[in-house]
Amino acid sequence: MLESNRRHWLKQIGLSVAGIGLSNLDAISAPTDLLAKDSANNLPIRLSSNENPYGPSPLARAAMTENINISNRYNWQLSTDLIQAVSKKNNISTNNILLGAGSTEILDLVTRLSSTKKGSFLIADPSYSYWTEAAEKLGLKKITVPLTKSKQLDLDAMLKAIQSDTRLIYICNPNNPTGSIADRIELVKFINEASKKAIVLIDEAYIDYTNQESLSAIAIENKNLIIAKTFSKIYGLAGARIGYAIANSKTIEQLSELKSWASGSISVASTAAALAALNDEKFVLEALSLNKNARQFTIENLKKLNLVCIPSNTNFIYFSLNNFKKDFFEQLKNNNIIGTKIYEEQGRWTRITVGTMEEMQKFISAIQ
Ligand SMILES: Cc1ncc(COP(=O)(O)O)c(C=O)c1O
Repeated sequence: MLESNRRHWLKQIGLSVAGIGLSNLDAISAPTDLLAKDSANNLPIRLSSNENPYGPSPLARAAMTENINISNRYNWQLSTDLIQAVSKKNNISTNNILLGAGSTEILDLVTRLSSTKKGSFLIADPSYSYWTEAAEKLGLKKITVPLTKSKQLDLDAMLKAIQSDTRLIYICNPNNPTGSIADRIELVKFINEASKKAIVLIDEAYIDYTNQESLSAIAIENKNLIIAKTFSKIYGLAGARIGYAIANSKTIEQLSELKSWASGSISVASTAAALAALNDEKFVLEALSLNKNARQFTIENLKKLNLVCIPSNTNFIYFSLNNFKKDFFEQLKNNNIIGTKIYEEQGRWTRITVGTMEEMQKFISAIQ
C-alpha cells in the first residue's frame, strides 16, 4: 500500500487519532500466531466461555499496544471518543449510552437500579445467570420460567409470571446456553407489555452473530427498556472488559448515578482497542464466517453421533447428552479440552463453545 493511502486508511479506521504509527502497524502479526502459541504451549482448548478464538483483531492489538504509553493519563478523551463511535454505529445519541467494564458491569448496574425497591426479578431457565446471585444478595427474589420443550424462550409464560412486585425482567437474546433466538416481532410485543410493569433488560451479547436487528431503537424511546451490549464476543475483546448500555437518556442518567465516574471503568488501552475494533469490519466478517463453518462442522458431527442439537444462532452449541454412552467430561479432560457443565435436567444437556475448525476437529475426535 502506498504510504499516503495507508495514512488515509489509518485515519479512516481511527488509529491515527489514537496515535498508531505506520511502523507499529507493520509489526503486527495476524491473530493466528496467538492460536499457534496456545497449541505450542500445550494450553487446554478452551471451549467453555464463548470467547472469540480469533481475536483481538490486529487493529485492536495495535491500538492497545500503542495506548499503553498514555496509560499514565485518565481516560477522559478516549472514552468520549468511544461513546461517540458507539453512538454512530448504533445510530443513536451519545446520551443514550453508558460504558461499562464488560456488559457484566451493565448487568450489575441494572440489578442495583432494580433493587432500590425490594421485590422480585424474572429470568428464563436455563439462561445466563451469573449476575443473579448478586441480585438475590441485594434482596430481589428470583423467579424462573422454564424454556419451552424445544428450548425457546416462553414469552407468554414469562408475561404471566410477572408479579406485582417484579422489578426486573431479564431476556438473553439469543439465549445463553441454548443459542436459540426469539422472534423479533414477538419480542417487541412482549417488551411493550412487560415494560409497563418492570424494567426489561435485553442482553444482546450474541446478537452480532445473527441477522436480527438490535432493539436499541426501541430502547431510546422506552424508559423501562435497557439493552446490554459487549465487545467480548464478535469483537474478540473478552479480556479487555468493554461493554455498554443503550437506553433512554433518563434511564442512562439513573444508571450513571449509581457510579462515581460514569463510563470511567475502562482502561485507556481497552478503550483504544474497542475504538479500533469497531472499525475492523474485515476481522468481524472473517470471524463470523469462520464461526459459521466450524459450527456447521460441529453440528453435523454431533448429529452423526446421534446427539440432539438445538439450532444455534451464536458461537456455541447446546446439545443433549442423552444418547452419549461414555463419560463426556472425562473424554474432554483426557483430551485437554475444557467444556461447560450444565445442570439442567440432571446434566443431560451441555454447551460447547465454537472454537477454530482445528479445535472443533479435536473436540469431535475426543468424543467419538
Ligand atoms: C449472555 C451473556 N451476557 C453477558 C456476558 C458477560 O460478558 P462481558 O462481561 O464479557 O461483556 C456473557 C459472557 O459470556 C454472556 O454470555
